[in-house]
Amino acid sequence: MIIRAISNGDKMNCALMHKHICVAEIELDTDTGFIQRIGKVFAPEHLPVGVPVKRGSADRAALNDWWTDRSIPASRPGVRQAVEVLGVSSTKTLLVRGYGLSLSDQYWILPAGSDMTWETLYFFRNGFSSDIGDVLFGLEKKTGPINFISPDSTTDGFLIKRWKLIDGKRCLIKGGSNPFRQQPLNEMIATEIMNRLGIPCVPYSVVWDGGAPYSVCEDFVDENTELVPAWRIIKTRKQSNSTSMYSHFVNCAEALGIKDAVAFLDRLIVLDYIIANEDRHLNNFGALRNAETLEWLGMAPIYDSGSSLGYDKSVPLMMNAREVICKPFKKHHEEQLKLVSDFGWIDFAKLEDVPGMIVGVLSDKNARDYMDESRIHAIAELTRKRIEYLKQLAGSHERKQTIDLNDEVTENVAEDYYTEG
Ligand SMILES: Nc1ncnc2c1ncn2[C@@H]1O[C@H](COP(=O)(O)OP(=O)(O)OP(=O)(O)O)[C@@H](O)[C@H]1O
Ligand SMILES: [Mg+2]
Repeated sequence: MIIRAISNGDKMNCALMHKHICVAEIELDTDTGFIQRIGKVFAPEHLPVGVPVKRGSADRAALNDWWTDRSIPASRPGVRQAVEVLGVSSTKTLLVRGYGLSLSDQYWILPAGSDMTWETLYFFRNGFSSDIGDVLFGLEKKTGPINFISPDSTTDGFLIKRWKLIDGKRCLIKGGSNPFRQQPLNEMIATEIMNRLGIPCVPYSVVWDGGAPYSVCEDFVDENTELVPAWRIIKTRKQSNSTSMYSHFVNCAEALGIKDAVAFLDRLIVLDYIIANEDRHLNNFGALRNAETLEWLGMAPIYDSGSSLGYDKSVPLMMNAREVICKPFKKHHEEQLKLVSDFGWIDFAKLEDVPGMIVGVLSDKNARDYMDESRIHAIAELTRKRIEYLKQLAGSHERKQTIDLNDEVTENVAEDYYTEG
C-alpha cells in the first residue's frame, strides 16, 4: 500500500486505518475536518459499517456522515469556548488533530509519510493527553503547546464528558444538565434496575466534584472489540416505506449475523419504559464486533440511560405521560411496549424495592442543591406506577397487539439540554 504525497496546503493525504489494516486512501481538509476525496479502497470489508462501496469506490457522503458523527456536537455546553481556547476552527478539526483515535472503536487516520504506528498510539494500551478534557471542563489552560492526542475529541454526545485513567482503567466521566443535574444519578439507578433484572449493562457509579455529580463508567470496548451504534447498523440495508424502524433494525441485525437482537430490544424497551427514558436514539445502543476478524459478538451492554426519570421536567410535567418523549421506534412508551415479544424474563419480585432504591440514590446529601424531597418522592412513585402497569401488561393474556403505525419516530435526533449556568 502506498499513500501518495504528504500535506498540501490545508489538504492532508491519509490512510483510513482500522487497527493495523489500511482501509482506504483519503484526503482531509485540515481546516474543516471534512473528507474531500476517497482514493483507493484497499480493504472494503473494513470500511465503517453502513458505508457502501460501488465498483471499488466508497460513498464519500456516507463516510463523512460516519466521520463527523464521531466528533463533539457543536451544541454541547462549553464547546464554543473550548474550540476558541484550543485555537481550532471546529470540533471536526479536533478529529484530525487527534488522528481520529477513539476508545469506542479502532479506526484512526495515518498521515501520508508519517512513521506513527498503532502500537505507539492506540489508547487501549497507551496513555492519552488530558489537555482536551481539561479545556472541555473549563479548567485553567496549561502553558505550553496543547497535546491533541485524546479520546475526548472522538466521544460524541451532548453532555460534558471526558476520559480518565483511574486505577489503570479507562473511565468515562460525564456530567448532568441544569437545572436538576439528574443524569449521573439516573445512570446509577438504571444500573441498579438492570442488575435486578439480569440485563447486561455498563455499570455506572457517581462521584461529586465541586458540588456537582458526575457518572463514571469503565470502557466496555477493549483492544480487540468495537462498538457499532444502531445508527450504523440500519444503514446496511435499504428500509422500505412499509417497514417499521423496529423491523428494519431487526432485519439488518439478522442479515449481519448479530445474535439475539429481539431479546435485547425486549430488555431495552422494558428498561426504558420503567425509567421513562427520553433519549434512546440510535447512537445510544449498538452491537459489538471483533475489529480484526469482523465477527459480531452480539448487542453491546446497555449504556447512556441518564436522560430519564423526568430529568429535565417539573413534577406536574413528569406526571403527564404524553409529555414524555419516546425513542427510537415509537413516539410513546406505551406504544413502544407493544413491540416487546416476551415479558417472561422479568422477575417482578426483584423490582419491589426499586422505589426505595430511587429515593436512596436521589437523596444523596450532595444533591440537595438540585432536588427537593417532593421531587424525589414523585419520581419514585411514578416509577412504582410504571412497574405496576408493566406487571399487569405482562400478566395479561389479552395484550393489545394493534400497533399504531402513525406513532413511528421519523428522525434520529438526540436531546438537546439546558446549557450550563
Ligand atoms: N463505557 C463506554 N465505553 C466505550 N464507549 C462509550 C462508553 N460510554 C459511552 N461511549 C461512547 O461515547 C458516546 C457518548 O457517550 P454517552 O452516550 O454516554 O453521552 P451522552 O452525552 O449522554 O449522549 P447523548 O447525547 O446521547 O445524551 C457514546 O455514543 C458511545 O459511542
Ligand atoms: Mg449518548
